Amino acid sequence: MSQSKSKVIAVATQKGRAGKSTIAIHLAVQAMQSKKNAQVVLRAP
Ligand SMILES: Nc1ncnc2c1ncn2[C@@H]1O[C@H](COP(=O)(O)OP(=O)(O)OP(=O)(O)O)[C@@H](O)[C@H]1O
Ligand SMILES: [Mg+2]
Repeated sequence: MSQSKSKVIAVATQKGRAGKSTIAIHLAVQAMQSKKNAQVVLRAP
């Protein structure tokens, strides 16, 4: 059985407009600059 090396990073706050999406996008850019794939999923509760 193969082991996935994927990591899931959650950025969450109760407060709105706190910068969650901005942080998520910056993390994805960093990952891609390190030649890693990244997928950003934005969710509202
Ligand atoms: N470190 C920061 N310094 C200044 N402004 C910021 C910073 N991070 C985010 N912002 C600004 O704050 C606003 C809200 O950011 P963002 O949309 O990332 O928040 P959010 O938590 O995803 O909001 P929502 O809860 O509506 O999804 C945006 O206008 C963004 O440009
Ligand atoms: Mg957001």
